[in-house]
Amino acid sequence: MSRVALVTGGSRGIGAAISKELKEAGYTVAATYAGNDEAAAAFTAETGIKTYKWNVADYESSKAGIAQVEADLGPVEVVIANAGITRDAPFHKMTPDQWKEVIDTNLTGVFNTIHPIWPGMRERKFGRIVVISSINGQKGQFAQVNYAATKAGDLGIVKSLAQEGARANITANAICPGYIGTDMVMAVPEKVRESIIAQIPAGRLGEPEEIARIVKFLVSDDAGFINGSTVSANGAQFFV
Ligand code: CAA
Repeated sequence: MSRVALVTGGSRGIGAAISKELKEAGYTVAATYAGNDEAAAAFTAETGIKTYKWNVADYESSKAGIAQVEADLGPVEVVIANAGITRDAPFHKMTPDQWKEVIDTNLTGVFNTIHPIWPGMRERKFGRIVVISSINGQKGQFAQVNYAATKAGDLGIVKSLAQEGARANITANAICPGYIGTDMVMAVPEKVRESIIAQIPAGRLGEPEEIARIVKFLVSDDAGFINGSTVSANGAQFFV
């Protein structure tokens, strides 16, 4: 029977590419989305992948949503915590609301996604967790004190979970994408975006599929000894 994979923020951007890659690899995929019903419906029509709507920032909604996925498809064995938002502003202009929204979604949202699934993984003695962090969690970024803090925090989550899950054959790893050609990056003002691309030795933005293929490997049986790692994919823009 095929393994069930949950991809948060799985109907758009990098998440959509991950959902499709995993479906192609034989997983039964559930993709979550927060608000864009139209994009989610179009995604399901195109791919046949089931979508579920809930706010990852809310623990009870996440718990109920995951219970529904498990009732529909079976136990979730693979989790890709991908959902994320930006609320960019220079620090002197950043509001407490901009701080809180990003923390609630990108950091607490990862807790809310993994925590309800964790006991089942421990019982079944198998699990694969991948958290989509960011180059900006590694290097920081002008106007992203909030976002960079969450993406650095995501690395702390996987390094700790890796130690707790290892003996139950659960792995937790992070991917730090650089600048990828998604709506999130296209929302950066054009002049700023051009200056960012000029700092990427590859001379281009990455493609969502280039991240999805890393996920496919990290969740495979072949990757069982890779645990607590951070995989960077940024066109040589930054080295840890
Ligand atoms: N480095 C240095 N200076 C920068 C800068 C940068 N990356 N980005 C903006 N600035 C400068 C501007 O040129 C401007 O300088 P001047 O005052 O000399 O003109 C100043 O900072 C900011 O000006 P404003 O006060 O007018 O800023 P604002 O309130 O209008 O905010 C902004 C503008 C939101 C910061 C906008 O410039 C922006 O969106 N910058 C990009 C931030 C970014 O890189 N976000 C990444 C998004 S993609 C992502 O997050 C995905 C991922 O994981 C990689």
